[in-house]
Amino acid sequence: MGSWTHLLVATALVATASRVAARPSVAAAAADPPAQYTANPRVGPGGARFKDSPHFRIYGATNDAVADGAIAMLEAAYTCFVEDLGWRSPGLSFRAFESTSPVYNKVNVYQLETLPGAAANAPTDLNLGLAWLNVVKTYMTEPSVVVHEFGHVLTYAAGPPGWIDQTRTGAWWETTANFVADTYLTSSRCARARNKYNQKEGNTLIDFKKSISDSFQVIVDGTRDTGNYYQAWPFFVYLFNNLDNTTANIFPQVWTKYRKGSDETPLHVLERIVAPIKVQAVVARYWARMAFVDIGHPKAQAAFNSQRRNLNYANLDSQGSGRYRVKSARRPRYMGANITPLKGTGDIVVNVTASMAFTASLAVKGANGVVRYVDMKGGSGQVSVANGEEAMLVVVNTPANLLLFDPFKLTAEANNGVDYQVQLTGATF
Ligand SMILES: *[C@@H]1O[C@H](CO)[C@@H](O)[C@H](O)[C@H]1NC(C)=O
Ligand SMILES: *[C@@H]1O[C@H](CO)[C@@H](O)[C@H](O)[C@H]1NC(C)=O
Repeated sequence: MGSWTHLLVATALVATASRVAARPSVAAAAADPPAQYTANPRVGPGGARFKDSPHFRIYGATNDAVADGAIAMLEAAYTCFVEDLGWRSPGLSFRAFESTSPVYNKVNVYQLETLPGAAANAPTDLNLGLAWLNVVKTYMTEPSVVVHEFGHVLTYAAGPPGWIDQTRTGAWWETTANFVADTYLTSSRCARARNKYNQKEGNTLIDFKKSISDSFQVIVDGTRDTGNYYQAWPFFVYLFNNLDNTTANIFPQVWTKYRKGSDETPLHVLERIVAPIKVQAVVARYWARMAFVDIGHPKAQAAFNSQRRNLNYANLDSQGSGRYRVKSARRPRYMGANITPLKGTGDIVVNVTASMAFTASLAVKGANGVVRYVDMKGGSGQVSVANGEEAMLVVVNTPANLLLFDPFKLTAEANNGVDYQVQLTGATF
C-alpha cells in the first residue's frame, strides 16, 4: 500500500469555518432511512452528468464498468458500516442531529481526471454538514483509496461535536480511515455486505515495518515522512474486536463521547469509555497482543507469520550478566512500545526498571498457537515457557496522566522515550 500513502490527502480535516451545533439527541438517527436517498447537487460542485445508486451519486461518470464497480464497492461499504455495524448514516447532515424528520442525502462522488497531489480526498460543506468524495478516475474501484475516503465521510457524519473542528484529532482521521478500508477489505464483519455486492475479500493493509518494527513511536505520530498515522490502525482493530471485553461499541463512541470543543485526544475519550479500567492498561494489552498479532485479524496474523523474520526487533543492548538496556533511539515514546522476542525455555524471570512510568508484560505463544499474557507487576515477574512455546517481552510507555498532544506537532514530552533496563534470568535476547 505504501505508494499511495502520501497521496491519500483528506482535505478540510481541521475545519475552522464554524462550530457545529450542539447535539440534543440522536433520536432522529433511529428513524428508518428510505431505500433511496435524495440527490443533493449542492454538496460539492454538482454537474449534469451522473450515475445514481440508492445511497450515492457518481458525478462525471459515464455509464461504464468503472462507475458500476465503484457503486458496488461503495454500496457494499455503506451496507457494512451503516446497516450492519450501525454507524450513523453519511446521508445525514452532521449539523442536523436535532432534526426529527431528517433528510437522507446521497453521498456525492466526483470522478475526476486529476487531483493535485492526491488520488482522492473528502472535502466537507460545513454549512450543509455533508462531506463528499473526489476520486481520480483510475482509482475509482480501488477500495484502499475510495473506502478510505468514505471512512472520512463516516467520521464527519458521526459528529457533532465529534472530531470535526478539533486540532488534536487531525492525524487520527487517517488512522480511522485506514481502519475503515482494511475492515471493509478483510473483516468477517463486512463479509455479508461484500457478498451482497459481489465484492471479493481483499488483502490487509497492515504495515509491520511501522506497527512492529517502529512500535517505539508515539502511538499515533503525524510527523511527515516518518510518522505512523496511516499505519497505526491495528489499535482500532483491537478496540473494535473488543477481545478483552473492555471496549464494546468503540465506534461510534469515540466520536459521540468526544467532549465538545475540548480539543482532547481520542485517548481521552477512550479513557472515559473504558473507566474504571485504565486506558493505560488497555493500550498496554493492545501492544502485548501485537507481539503475535493476536488482535482478531486472521489475515494480519498470517502476514505477520510470513514477515516476522524481516522485522526489526533490535531494541536492546546487552550489558552482560543477563542485563540489557534499551537502545536510546528505540525507547518507547508516548503510548508506544518495544516488543522483544526472548530466547529460552523453562522458568524465565524478568525484572524491568526505569525512572519513568511503563507497563511490562510477557506474551507467550503456545505450541497450539494460543497466546497467554502475563503482567509484570512493578516490572517484574516470571513465566514458565515449555518446549515449543515462545515468549516476547512487551514494554509500553504508559504515563500516569494522558498528554494533550497533537500528533502533527509532537513535543519533546511526547517523544521522550522510557529509558529502561531489564534483567533476564532463564532467557536471553
Ligand atoms: C470476553 O467475554 C466473552 C463472553 O462473555 C468470554 O467468552 C471471553 O472469554 C471474554 N474474554 C476475556 C479475554 O476475558
Ligand atoms: C529488580 O531490579 C531492581 C534494580 O536492580 C531491584 O532493586 C529490585 O529488587 C528487583 N526486583 C526484583 C523483584 O527482583
